[in-house]
Amino acid sequence: MSTPSAGANIPSKHVRVPDLARFKVDGHKIAMITAYDATFARLVDQAGVDAILVGDSVATVMQGHTNTIPVELDEMVYHVSAVARARTRALVIGDLPFGSYQVSSQQAVESSVRLMKAGAEAVKLEGGLAMADTILAISRVDIPVVGHIGLTPQSFHRMGGHRVQGRTSGHDAGGRERLLDDAHAVEQAGACAVVLEGIPLDLAAEITSKLSIPTIGIGAGIGCDGQVLVLHDVLGLSETTLTFARHFADLRGQVVAATQQYVSDVRAGSWPDEAHSFH
Ligand code: KIV
Repeated sequence: MSTPSAGANIPSKHVRVPDLARFKVDGHKIAMITAYDATFARLVDQAGVDAILVGDSVATVMQGHTNTIPVELDEMVYHVSAVARARTRALVIGDLPFGSYQVSSQQAVESSVRLMKAGAEAVKLEGGLAMADTILAISRVDIPVVGHIGLTPQSFHRMGGHRVQGRTSGHDAGGRERLLDDAHAVEQAGACAVVLEGIPLDLAAEITSKLSIPTIGIGAGIGCDGQVLVLHDVLGLSETTLTFARHFADLRGQVVAATQQYVSDVRAGSWPDEAHSFH
């Protein structure tokens, strides 16, 4: 079966980092999605996403971990290269995994270089104020950086799980005012965009109105300049439905049904049939 071709309203032009700023000015909502392999990268690219995030969510989605902490830089390099080879127009953003950028700015630059050599066009890292110097160091060597503040999954243990942030006021980690400080710090350090994850929608809208760089929301409401979701959530391949993540299809059901049909045809001796056999 062939896949549908991209609709007429999907620009064929390769999305580049400077386009992100233009999208914000033009009010073009940025559609970003995660992908980790060539097959899905090709499909989501064809479907017209603006950017593909090779997220460290690969740890939970593909590797079966309960959080993103275990995934290694070498593994991210592998997935970034698979995605970058397959896509033709969407911007490819590679996630810096836990432990690959927190030690020093030099470590962060070296890790970013590895993702860029694998085909990323920008890197993403988690953290606001505390990561400003790191963002600056990476940006200074002309590697575009996407920030990520709010519910930062690599802070799983500090947060005590995946917890919505910004519901309390104050400048301590997770406080509303702190998130505004984080957003400004990320922008001033030179980030080209920032992911806002797991924060109240009014706070996300306020940050979006105050920043000149685009905000990409996940669990942050409609007021962001764009949205990102994990591919397996969008396709309904995940076992659970997160409050903020809609299943736009039920591929889980379809995968099980197709496999059940295969098992039953093999057992019945009706597969392979004549048409699929060599003579
Ligand atoms: O790793 C990831 O998929 C992410 C998104 C959920 C923003 O960081």
